[in-house]
Amino acid sequence: MAHSILVFYGSYRSDRMGIRLADYIVARLRGRGEDVELIDAKAVGLPMLDRMYKEYPKGSAPAALEALAARIRAADAFVFVTGEYNWGMQPGLKNLTDHFLEEWFWRPAAVASYSAGRIAGARSGFVWHGTLSEMSMLVISSTLTVGPIAEALDADGKPLGQAGQGLERAFGRFADDLAWWTEAARMQRARKAPPY
Ligand SMILES: Cc1cc2nc3c(=O)[nH]c(=O)nc-3n(C[C@H](O)[C@H](O)[C@H](O)COP(=O)(O)O)c2cc1C
Repeated sequence: MAHSILVFYGSYRSDRMGIRLADYIVARLRGRGEDVELIDAKAVGLPMLDRMYKEYPKGSAPAALEALAARIRAADAFVFVTGEYNWGMQPGLKNLTDHFLEEWFWRPAAVASYSAGRIAGARSGFVWHGTLSEMSMLVISSTLTVGPIAEALDADGKPLGQAGQGLERAFGRFADDLAWWTEAARMQRARKAPPY
């Protein structure tokens, strides 16, 4: 049975590169038979956080927030594709995630980082681990680290050269790890209601 997986990406830059990695992950997970949707924070276009979703009276949240809350609640797992700005997170993706809390609970999350250089966004990926744990996601230990991203993926998200081959090799374990925890969490939710 396919898992429902949301892939989040949050750069708002006109010349953004990380969309290559987001597209690659979506394509590869679909290739494994998963039911995958890309959530592009720029396309969703939430304003800077004012009220969290849960702070709106029931039925009165803006339509984009209501629709995204329903997609997050219905998902089995999440992948966060994270670039690195000045050793930190990209604000667009952080802003989107902060709009929700309980909607994230009791599902696994995976972090895939990238950057223009050889550090491959690892410092941003490190910060995301703590943040996703705080939001009650189970963060899997396998990561993808892609850098320099322009040497690993072309504009269509297709692997390039040696760096692309390295990404292909790493992807299998990353996806296996996520699938195992996704299945475990889904079985446990079916067996026993979450405690809160
Ligand atoms: C404001 C800003 C800060 C950046 N800081 C870092 C950094 O700390 N480490 C790094 O490896 N790359 C850094 N970069 C380069 C990015 O890795 C590169 O521009 C990448 O493509 C950004 O992701 P995006 O194209 O999806 O927006 C920075 C880029 C920008 C625009």
